[in-house]
Amino acid sequence: MLEKFFSRKVEFDILPMQATHCRAASVIHGERFSRGWSDGEFHDLLGQDTVGGHVALQTGIAPHEGVAGFVLSRTAAGEAEILSIGVHARVARQGLGWRLMRAALADIVARDAATVFLEVDETNTAARALYSKLGFRKVAERPAYYAGPDGKKTTAHVMRLDLNLSRNSRSAKP
Ligand SMILES: CC(C)(COP(=O)(O)OP(=O)(O)OC[C@H]1O[C@@H](n2cnc3c(N)ncnc32)[C@H](O)[C@@H]1OP(=O)(O)O)[C@@H](O)C(=O)NCCC(=O)NCCS
Repeated sequence: MLEKFFSRKVEFDILPMQATHCRAASVIHGERFSRGWSDGEFHDLLGQDTVGGHVALQTGIAPHEGVAGFVLSRTAAGEAEILSIGVHARVARQGLGWRLMRAALADIVARDAATVFLEVDETNTAARALYSKLGFRKVAERPAYYAGPDGKKTTAHVMRLDLNLSRNSRSAKP
């Protein structure tokens, strides 16, 4: 009985991001990106009307403790951009990145945008595979766009996804 309890699979909910999640999101960002975003930067972005955010929250845990991932997007004039997405390394490859992106895309559709862009480092195989699986396609390259901690420059891929603004996509759940 106890064994069953301790081996129980951890569940996550995908929920709209709120101010209480910003600190935890900035910790994940700091761990997963070479230039971290502060708590305040998350607050500022989330406060903008054009910006939407979601978090992956461990079911039944306090919001400031259970954040395992986040996504932020900006939508304006019928176009959207994925600003950032990050999932805690401890829970990588459990489908949270996929679910967060699906939530962001549903939010973008609800804001009446039909085209989504993002930038990704060509060496980031995990993110590129996630975006390709979602249907994003490379439309441009920006050579020497990113600089690693060792100063080495890498190319950015600009990727695009055209969304179907039909009734079905509007009701898509993450
Ligand atoms: C990219 C990132 C968000 C993916 O999150 P995740 O929760 O681990 O991804 P998921 O489990 O949802 O994976 C969905 C799909 O993405 C692809 N993918 C994810 N991680 C991968 C990896 N390490 N290698 C290859 N493909 C991978 C696979 O196609 C996967 O589907 P599958 O498991 O059915 O094969 C995560 O690796 C991350 O936070 N990275 C650091 C921050 C970052 O690079 N953000 C993107 C900046 S542009």
